[in-house]
Amino acid sequence: MKIAIAGTGYVGLSNGLLLAQHNEVVALDIIPEKVAMLQKKISPIEDKEIEEYLKKDDINFKATLDKQEAYENADFIIIATPTDYDPDTNYFNTKTIEYVVQDVLDINPKATMVIKSTVPVGYTKSLREKFNTDNIIFSPEFLREGKALYDNLYPSRIIEGVGLDPRIGTHYNNPSFGYGGYCLPKDTKQLRANYENVPCNLISAIVEANSTRKDFIADSVLSFNSKLNIKNSTLNTVGIYRLTMKSGSDNFRSSAIQGIMKRIKAKGVEVVIYEPVMKEETFFNSKVIKDLDEFKKVSDVIVANRLSEDILDVKEKVYTRDIFNSDS
Ligand SMILES: NC(=O)c1ccc[n+]([C@@H]2O[C@H](COP(=O)([O-])OP(=O)(O)OC[C@H]3O[C@@H](n4cnc5c(N)ncnc54)[C@H](O)[C@@H]3O)[C@@H](O)[C@H]2O)c1
Repeated sequence: MKIAIAGTGYVGLSNGLLLAQHNEVVALDIIPEKVAMLQKKISPIEDKEIEEYLKKDDINFKATLDKQEAYENADFIIIATPTDYDPDTNYFNTKTIEYVVQDVLDINPKATMVIKSTVPVGYTKSLREKFNTDNIIFSPEFLREGKALYDNLYPSRIIEGVGLDPRIGTHYNNPSFGYGGYCLPKDTKQLRANYENVPCNLISAIVEANSTRKDFIADSVLSFNSKLNIKNSTLNTVGIYRLTMKSGSDNFRSSAIQGIMKRIKAKGVEVVIYEPVMKEETFFNSKVIKDLDEFKKVSDVIVANRLSEDILDVKEKVYTRDIFNSDS
């Protein structure tokens, strides 16, 4: 198989030399000095394995300045060109990738382009649309400079199917009103306390981010019914549908929705609660309404951390962030 590499930096060279053990690899760069060095089997970067592999007789690796020579008849083009952060646009400058894609489409449109450069989220999709091709995929790169080829030759792990892991995949990807429950709020606060004598912003930022999230959700709830185009948009009563964090649970210890309630009440808006597992008549001075129909009637806005069939008949006044309808 022929594989072309665009960009002979850490990423391009290490992937190129790895693949050149069993494939024909042609590496393209725009810097003549780099290509000249590679043609003399000298590494332009300091990396023990790259230096050794360039001198091996049994690898099929060539460097060139000629796009045609690199891209023609290649099955795959690995794109490893720079994507520097541009402080003016606050975005990665991805122009080098686009130049390569345009060249590949002109010379060899059937080739599959594999982006190894670091790109913004959603970039590959936008590139496919812009160039009207499905032949572009993204493959993230993890290497250490100075051990770039070593890390490709001896990876510490090979991960397949990240999205299938129920702890971190799309299953888990459903917004909420912040994190809550019995463990995470106290764990993060304890961790922050552990760092009391060690300067560290990260853990405090996590704790603060959860509070910021609740401020944002409470503000969004308070302005929600004015956006609903309801004739009388005065917000008198906010109904809290369930105090639990997750559907199917009867546990509401430190649930995020309680932080939302507190903020809404602080603005002088009445809060009522529908929570079938609760026997008490009130919860933190808010009335617990046992009858769901009455709850729906008295609530101008219903705040639900997780959507449920029970309240679909009044969906227009439900405020939720349950976008994917799951909470595994
Ligand atoms: N270095 C790392 O540890 C690392 C790890 C993961 C991802 N990345 C990402 O991979 C990309 C490349 O990183 P790097 O460290 O290998 O960069 P690098 O600067 O070492 O090498 C990039 C090479 O691309 C060449 N180039 C520029 N435009 C080109 C074009 N149009 N055609 C062909 N070659 C072109 C440059 O001359 C340079 O030799 C970046 O997006 C980087 O963020 C780097």
